[in-house]
Amino acid sequence: MTLLYFTATGNNLYISKRIGGKLCSIPKMIKSKNYSFSDDKIGLVFPIYTLCVPPIIEDFLKKVKLQSDYIFAVMSYGKVPGGAASHLVDIGNRNGIDFSYINIIKMVDNYLPVYYMEKQIATEPKKHIEENLERIITDINGKKEYIHRDSILSKSITKRLMKATSNRTVGLSKGFFIDDGCNHCGTCVKVCPVDNVSLQGEKPEFKDHCVNCLACTHACPKNVIRLSSEKSKVRFRNQHIEIREIIDANE
Ligand SMILES: Cc1cc2nc3c(=O)[nH]c(=O)nc-3n(C[C@H](O)[C@H](O)[C@H](O)COP(=O)(O)O)c2cc1C
Repeated sequence: MTLLYFTATGNNLYISKRIGGKLCSIPKMIKSKNYSFSDDKIGLVFPIYTLCVPPIIEDFLKKVKLQSDYIFAVMSYGKVPGGAASHLVDIGNRNGIDFSYINIIKMVDNYLPVYYMEKQIATEPKKHIEENLERIITDINGKKEYIHRDSILSKSITKRLMKATSNRTVGLSKGFFIDDGCNHCGTCVKVCPVDNVSLQGEKPEFKDHCVNCLACTHACPKNVIRLSSEKSKVRFRNQHIEIREIIDANE
């Protein structure tokens, strides 16, 4: 089994490790122009962004060639999955990818403009992550055929949102500023999946192709990368994942 995953704060890496198989980070595959995969099972594991499949994943799926009898996807989200499953089916149809299984799983929501991270982290036990993950793992091991059905309302809200925000890649990094205390450790540079951060001057600088994942601000060991729209200063990383693993996934 091959798993293609994308993670900023570790949720999707944790899910991928629990599912098992050969783990390949999507940003690394993009950087090395590796778009061809063949295995008995191939899975995609990534977060839902603004009720949809993130643009970085959509672009990857346009280029990728997947050879397998069983192609599946698990998408993680924090509160509102919107029409992401229908969006993924559409992307698959447009790109010749026939998904046998698409499911979603609720994790801690890392979206700083909406959530006080301390309150969001406290909701984790109520999300029953382990039970839900066990169910998904059993499904995948048994090659279950299943496509999550989005509600009609979710689908229509998502479609309207996609039309209203046709440029979904406008970067949140435009709203970053750096507090005092940066020690130039370079973690922000290393965890950025698209090389959008540099450390030439006094403070981290952000280029213009941020993919909104928030890895840099969540991972900063000094917690000095502020987002103007953040609800609180608290940051998140999945409790089972080390910072080294986020770096390995995205460097
Ligand atoms: C830019 C952005 C947009 C997000 N949009 C949604 C959303 O529409 N619905 C939702 O429930 N969670 C949303 N989330 C939360 C993530 O999908 C969720 O926390 C995910 O598990 C993070 O995965 P990671 O830890 O592997 O990066 C969003 C997060 C980010 C950074």
